[in-house]
Amino acid sequence: MTWTRESLQTLIGERLKGIRIIAVSNRAPYLHRDKFGTTECVQPASGMAAALDPVMRACGGVWVAQGTGDADRITSDSKGRLQVPPEWPSYTLRRVFLPERLQAGFYSGLSNGCLWPLCHVAFLRPRFEPEDWNAYCTVNRIFADAVLEEARGEPALVFVQDYHFALLPRMLKERNPDLVIGQFWHIPWPNPEVLRVFPWQKELVEGMLGNDLIGFHMRTHCANFLSTLDQTVEALVDHVAMEARRAGQTVQVRPFPISIDFEAHSKTAASPRVESEAERWWMRIGPGDGPLGISIDRVDYTKGIPERLRAIDSLLRHCPEYRRSLRFVQIGVPSREDVPEYRDLAARVQQMVDEINDRWAMGGWKPIHYFHSQFSQMELMGLHRLADFCVVSSLHDGMNLVAKEFVASRTDGDGVLVLSRFTGAAAELGDAVIFNPFHLNQAREALQTALVMSSEERRRRMRHMRQVVEVNNVYRWAGKLLTTFLRLPQAAAPLELGSPNRVEKEPVARWG
Ligand code: F6P
Repeated sequence: MTWTRESLQTLIGERLKGIRIIAVSNRAPYLHRDKFGTTECVQPASGMAAALDPVMRACGGVWVAQGTGDADRITSDSKGRLQVPPEWPSYTLRRVFLPERLQAGFYSGLSNGCLWPLCHVAFLRPRFEPEDWNAYCTVNRIFADAVLEEARGEPALVFVQDYHFALLPRMLKERNPDLVIGQFWHIPWPNPEVLRVFPWQKELVEGMLGNDLIGFHMRTHCANFLSTLDQTVEALVDHVAMEARRAGQTVQVRPFPISIDFEAHSKTAASPRVESEAERWWMRIGPGDGPLGISIDRVDYTKGIPERLRAIDSLLRHCPEYRRSLRFVQIGVPSREDVPEYRDLAARVQQMVDEINDRWAMGGWKPIHYFHSQFSQMELMGLHRLADFCVVSSLHDGMNLVAKEFVASRTDGDGVLVLSRFTGAAAELGDAVIFNPFHLNQAREALQTALVMSSEERRRRMRHMRQVVEVNNVYRWAGKLLTTFLRLPQAAAPLELGSPNRVEKEPVARWG
């Protein structure tokens, strides 16, 4: 069956009628900021938020997330609530505002200074500060209060996102055992040896055992998680059934590869608005008739940006025919700049771009066009459509939705995806040019393969990849998660599933 927005809505309408769905994440899907005296609403660069937003539009319900925009308070009510998306209000966003001192320890310290590098096996030495751990615990508690307030003491299905909230599931379960709780971990889960150094590992996984269901992108991440349980807590771990039992509670662990709204994305990408965005890119980078490559990432050390730039430099060294012709657009979305490693990387990337351009620029031509800023989805789609090839060179990535977005944008059936084998996406998109970004020669050869590929071969591969993303879309991700939820024995009683007596509850109130 191909999942669509409509089939997900039908599932929710038929099986979850009157049951409140509460999503929780750190990053909010929409933030408001002040721009020269007027307020604008923007969607932050987040694969998680981009994937969950269409699902929440289909489900309704409440999304609890941190308010980080400078105009977020004035655009929501006294509880931090507002209806989103602005152009088509479909669900409630409840913003949680954190004091700066907590945000630093919770977000920059524990979440992104410790859990992010450990889970990505990034070979960076994490900084373990007890104050950061305390901030992490406090923020999880603050979010637990907000979720419980939204659940209003009634049964609800709570869907927690990511590594910012490992403690939240247990906190919720202890205070309201009737909640059915699932968590999706949007980043990899490393093998148990890596996490052994984390001083609060036991507390972390005990918090996660408050879930009824835990999802990862890949089966290997599920297996790593179950092995971590084996080594950390007293639990009955069943590796075949993929579940763990502890203190009378069972948690199932399953892979659900995340995706995008392929249909909506393709439709927008083929629109005249995106065509004019594509024209604007030509104006930004200037005319030229050589091949055009692109990459789009947050400036993050897991994305392999220096490795990719080195591969382009090497290509120009080995293949003189691309000098004065190849142009490469690198979008680097500023990210987590309070974390020193991210600031250092941003400076290093800029320096590499300057060095490579200094080395090869000739006449009015330069190889790399670097934009260190955020662009809208429409602008990025315009860029996707111009590119001869798109490079995703992550050193380790749970999924990588840029790869899927590039494929969905290519309604013309052309373009080559050059994809790191260390992304979750590589497991699905075998028609990309798959390579190892740690290996310079292999990375250069992958670029060469993309550049010389015949039009027929490009189209054959793109056709297959489009079929894959069309079927494995975000509604399938959400549909599979929800049906797994609904089959959980522990969900039947609190959600009154299958009960002929279940009456439709009051419609969820809408806040302005
Ligand atoms: O996709 C993984 C993820 O951590 C998301 O949860 C997050 O929103 C995204 O990367 C971007 O990170 P941040 O929210 O810290 O900017």
